[in-house]
Formats: sequence, C-alpha cells, structure tokens
Amino acid sequence: MICSLRYFLVLLVLGWGAACTAGQTLAPFEDSMAQRLLACTGCHGKQGRAGPDGYYPRLAGKPAGYLYNQLHNFQSDSRHYALMVNLLEPLSDAYLREIADYFSALDVPYLPALPATASALVLERGHALASRGDVARKLPACTRCHGESLMGFAPNVPSLLGLPRAYLNAQLGAWRSGERRAQAPDCMAEVAKRLTPDDLTSVVAWLAAQPLPKPSKAVISLPKAMPLQCGSAPEARAGSTGVKP
Ligand code: HEC
Ligand code: HEC
Repeated sequence: MICSLRYFLVLLVLGWGAACTAGQTLAPFEDSMAQRLLACTGCHGKQGRAGPDGYYPRLAGKPAGYLYNQLHNFQSDSRHYALMVNLLEPLSDAYLREIADYFSALDVPYLPALPATASALVLERGHALASRGDVARKLPACTRCHGESLMGFAPNVPSLLGLPRAYLNAQLGAWRSGERRAQAPDCMAEVAKRLTPDDLTSVVAWLAAQPLPKPSKAVISLPKAMPLQCGSAPEARAGSTGVKP
C-alpha cells in the first residue's frame, strides 16, 4: 500500500511527518488511537506502561481527569518538557480529552518496582509519612488524597505507585520550586513545601519500592474529605477546609 495522505496527516499532527515520504511502501494502516499515539508511546513505553529509562512516567490506567489536566498543564506552561509540548501544542482541547480517556482505559501490566536501596530506617520513615503524615508539621498523609492503597482517587488524583524514584523526586522538587503548578489552590505545592528534604527522600524511597496492590485501580471515594483544597480535584472540595491532617 502506498503511503496515504491520511496517514501522512495523522503523523504530521503528532510531529512525525518525516517518517512517511511519497511513494514509500507501508503495511496497511489502521487509523486507531493506538496508531496515532505511537508518537507518545515511543517515550512512555508500549501502551503507556512507562518508559524503560527509569523516568518517563506511566500513562496507562491513570485517572482520565488527571491525565487531561496534565496535558492541559503542559500546553499552558504550568509543566515543562519541550519535546512533548511540541507534540501537544497543535492539539485541540477535545482531542486532549480523547487522548486522556484512551490511556486511562488501558488496563495493562505494570513494570516491576525496582528494589529499594535506602536503609530500613529511611523506608520506615517514608512509610509513616505516606500513611500517617506528620501532625507536628501539619503534613497530611499521602493516603488522605491518593487513596488508602495510594492507587489514586478518580477522576483527578493520580496513583503514587508504579512511578520511578527519579520521576517522583523531580515532581516534588518541581512543585517546591514552582516549576510545576496545578490549578489553584495548588494543594500539592503546599504538601511539597511542608516536606523537609529528608522527608522527601524517605517518602520517595518508600513509594518507588512498593509492589502494586491488586486491584491496581484508583478508588472512587475517600473515607474523609481531603485535608486541603485542591483546585485540580474540585469534587473533593466541599467541606474539606480546615480538617486536621
Ligand atoms: C520525547 C519523549 C516524550 C514524548 C514523545 C511524549 N512524552 Fe509525555 N512525558 C515525557 C516526560 C519526560 C514526562 C515527565 C515530564 C516532567 O518531568 O514533568 C512526560 C509526562 C507526561 C504526562 C504526565 C504524566 C503524569 O503522571 O503526570 C502525560 C499525561 C504525558 N506525558 C502524555 C503524553 C502524550 C499524550 C504524548 C503524545 C502526544 C506524550 N506524552 C509524548 C516524555 C515524552
Ligand atoms: C490534599 C490532597 C493531597 C495530599 C495530602 C497529597 N496529594 Fe499528591 N496530589 C494531589 C493532587 C490533587 C494531585 C494532582 C495534581 C495535578 O493535577 O497536577 C497530586 C499529585 C501528586 C503527584 C504527581 C504524580 C505524577 O504522576 O506526576 C505526586 C508525585 C504526589 N502527588 C505526591 C504526594 C505525596 C508524596 C504526598 C504525601 C506526602 C501527597 N502527594 C499528598 C493531592 C494530594
């Protein structure tokens, strides 16, 4: 089959125009989301399972609202990664939602967590912060918003498991420095600022070493209102102000 105009356009939209030149012979082309999003899975791993380099985050199975918010944030300069932003820039808001829904619906295996390298003491501190927080420093437990199993709270709060240590470190660091921003009020910026550098190292070391629970799905309700207001998760906002960590 000769490289079709349609194939060329689809690839062009996602920045791959150069991959298809006039007269080139190709396997029959199926115009599916999976094909169109090959431009993304090149970095984010097969079916968005996570890249092999220990940084590119998983997309598959993450809550759709969260994925959409991130695509929007990259487009609107609240998150930065030039190579990806170039791909997203020409895409419409409706198409960003379609992409978010597509990756969110994928139920594919996780890459195994890498073994922990931190000491037992550090890991224990990380576990305590994730599951209980630190009342003295008004630091809420991560489980209060990310769910008891830390697999997220649909549709807008992501999982904290199945993410590499380098990625987690970078995200919390970016929130502390203001380089990553979520919709105001940005509760994660507040949480990240309440973590000391030692807290951050401990919680990340523990999170990155956890095996995935079964089922590996986000919850759809939380036992208590979130302890801080999160502009990017407004469904949990009502009555949530002022609740003690
Ligand atoms: C060149 C590699 C590359 C390509 C291609 C790429 N991404 Fe990314 N993507 C990244 C990196 C790196 C990050 C993390 C950036 C950071 O540190 O905040 C990321 C982050 C994301 C996130 C946020 C994930 C999270 O858990 O917060 C989403 C969503 C995403 N990408 C979707 C896409 C989609 C959709 C495409 C295709 C249109 C795509 N990416 C193409 C490298 C890439
Ligand atoms: C008050 C609620 C709340 C608490 C408490 C909370 N988070 Fe979050 N977290 C969120 C929300 C909402 C998002 C999504 C933000 C966005 O849309 O960018 C998020 C996103 C994240 C992300 C981004 C994940 C990704 O794939 O890029 C990380 C990392 C994170 N939180 C870590 C933590 C850690 C570690 C703790 C505990 C120390 C914690 N969070 C406690 C609400 C919370």
